[in-house]
Amino acid sequence: MRIVFIGPPGAGKGTQAALVVERYGIAHLSTGDMLRAARDAQTEIGKLADHYMSAGQLVPDEIILQIVQDRLLADDCRRGYLLDGFPRTLAQAEALDQMLAQDSTPLDVVLELRVPDEELFRRLSGRARADDKPEVIRQRLVAYRQQTEPLLDYYQRRGLLQTIDGLGTVEDIFQRIQQVLDPLAERSARQQP
Ligand code: AP5
Ligand code: MG
Repeated sequence: MRIVFIGPPGAGKGTQAALVVERYGIAHLSTGDMLRAARDAQTEIGKLADHYMSAGQLVPDEIILQIVQDRLLADDCRRGYLLDGFPRTLAQAEALDQMLAQDSTPLDVVLELRVPDEELFRRLSGRARADDKPEVIRQRLVAYRQQTEPLLDYYQRRGLLQTIDGLGTVEDIFQRIQQVLDPLAERSARQQP
């Protein structure tokens, strides 16, 4: 199964992704985690990305595409993967479509996690990540509204979008996600016995 998670900062993408990859035996690809690892290792990409991340802005598409392209070729992605926090711009979505078309490995579903802004602030203020300061959270939300939300329409038109209510306990939300993914997992198991 090939899945994309879309949702604003604090929507619970990372939290739910951990449960999804465990249940369905697929790889977890979080561009945010990859960038934080590169930053901590002080690589060139990491130093460049840090500048954008600490301002709550999106890292330029060229950098993101470079790291995702390599990662998708790894062995563990052959059984499927969950993209957490990628794509985030129309250019990234188009580039992903091109990569997947080359290998005839289309996406199965795009899950939008929908959560009201007040709850996002509440969740992120309870955490201590470097980009969880109120003014940076505000900028991350602006980036989401302006650059990422247009993807919902992009995937809706392709018949791939499913919206999940992201309010409630972690377990409640995971149940909603399973209701969408279980039938797709059965379908892809039948196609590749
Ligand atoms: P990224 O790491 O992707 O961060 P984000 O999208 O801003 O969101 P978070 O990871 O903070 O939230 P989440 O939805 O994963 O929620 P979580 O499960 O952690 O990106 C960071 C930065 O990297 C970007 O700003 C950008 O600069 C750069 N970047 C990354 N990808 C990029 C790309 N493709 N293009 C360009 N730039 C890119 O949960 C949040 C909190 O809520 C946690 O404390 C959790 O315990 C809690 N929580 C979770 N679920 C619940 C629940 N049901 N009830 C109560 N609390 C909950
Ligand atoms: Mg995350």
